[in-house]
Amino acid sequence: MTHQKHAHWRKLTHEEITSIVFEALDKNIDYRQRKALGVPASHLDERVFYNNPMLLQNAPFLSTLLQNPNHIGCHTIGESEPFFAGTQRIEKELIQLCAEDILKGESDAQDGYVAAGGTEANIQAIWVFRNYFMSELNLQASEVGLLFSEDSHYSMFKAANLLQIPHFVAKVNEGDRTIDERALAETIESMKKDGIKAVAVVANMMTTMFGSADNPDVYVNALKNADLPFKLHLDGAYGGFVFPFVSKDERWSFANTDVSSITLDAHKMVQAPYGTGIYLAKKGLIPYATTGEAQYVAGLDATLSGSRSGANAISVWMILQTYGPNGWFEKIHLLSYRADWLERQLNEIGIEFYRYPGSNIVTMRSHSVPKELVEKYGLVPDSHEGNANWYKVVIMDHVSVDDMVPFVEELQAHVNG
Ligand SMILES: Cc1ncc(COP(=O)(O)O)c(C=O)c1O
Repeated sequence: MTHQKHAHWRKLTHEEITSIVFEALDKNIDYRQRKALGVPASHLDERVFYNNPMLLQNAPFLSTLLQNPNHIGCHTIGESEPFFAGTQRIEKELIQLCAEDILKGESDAQDGYVAAGGTEANIQAIWVFRNYFMSELNLQASEVGLLFSEDSHYSMFKAANLLQIPHFVAKVNEGDRTIDERALAETIESMKKDGIKAVAVVANMMTTMFGSADNPDVYVNALKNADLPFKLHLDGAYGGFVFPFVSKDERWSFANTDVSSITLDAHKMVQAPYGTGIYLAKKGLIPYATTGEAQYVAGLDATLSGSRSGANAISVWMILQTYGPNGWFEKIHLLSYRADWLERQLNEIGIEFYRYPGSNIVTMRSHSVPKELVEKYGLVPDSHEGNANWYKVVIMDHVSVDDMVPFVEELQAHVNG
């Protein structure tokens, strides 16, 4: 990662970022200068959100928030709303940065947009796949199966429900969270018996609870053996900004020709404002979600969102450019180092836990951790209903080794009795 050349991603100073964002804002409509009579939008209400030019001259994100550009539609294909072309261009740059410099896609070979979150990006991906199979293979929605593992995020269930497609859950091995291959072959057989003729499959690039990554080849081989057409999506909502920096394995990237699309989420590890999920797809796929009836939108609309905040896209771009690729690598490795520390302590105390190599999530067996510590230290269970089996620690930017020391000491005292 560190020695790679990046086409879009380089560390920029605050001054450089400020000038690029202000230049972009200048290319957007300024409602105070130009009275566009037909646009149902304006800057944020000045009676509530003060627009003080002196205070804003060094604040590109706040300035964008106040100008309130609408990034409706997808800006990596065709035309878009011309009123916000300046900041939409930065979103396009962000999509290319993520798809090419982080996820090893070829130049100009991916589309994408900044979605409301990981949930929306996953639903968009499955929507695109469903429509692809319905239109290319002439299938009914009920003949397209959605396949994902039992450690997958619940957005898969939302997608199946909304899109009215049957879903199938692959079992994982209890200890190492890998896909149970024998059970998968049986699940695929039962899918065929249920009349499934094509499969939308989602492999995790780090799961919510364990940080584990599903080997995409396991799904690919099983579906090829079963002679079922499939399209593969990677859910990197948690791991998309972590995994590529702690692993050189290209199976979880666009370099893997079986991967069609990927979800990332900047409002988790990137610490961007909520509303910054990212959907990326190889070119040619997003148009399957185009709503032809969106006639009033220039370039139509192939996204689930409709209107969405341009300031969100700008915030993600600003954060990534502030760090640059090496700065980001260092940040993720610092978190991983802190997780190494926790892992060593848990091993010494004799606590049972799971950690994917390099990950910043450490998930402990619930029987090893007393309830008081779960509450006191804000550990998150795998289930809030009934009995939890696991509790996780997620080592974010604000969780230092010093913050974990009292937890480890209390855990040790509990074990010592
Ligand atoms: C693996 C994974 N996918 C999807 C999501 C959903 O993301 P969001 O809450 O941004 O919709 C999450 C959230 O925790 C996640 O961990």
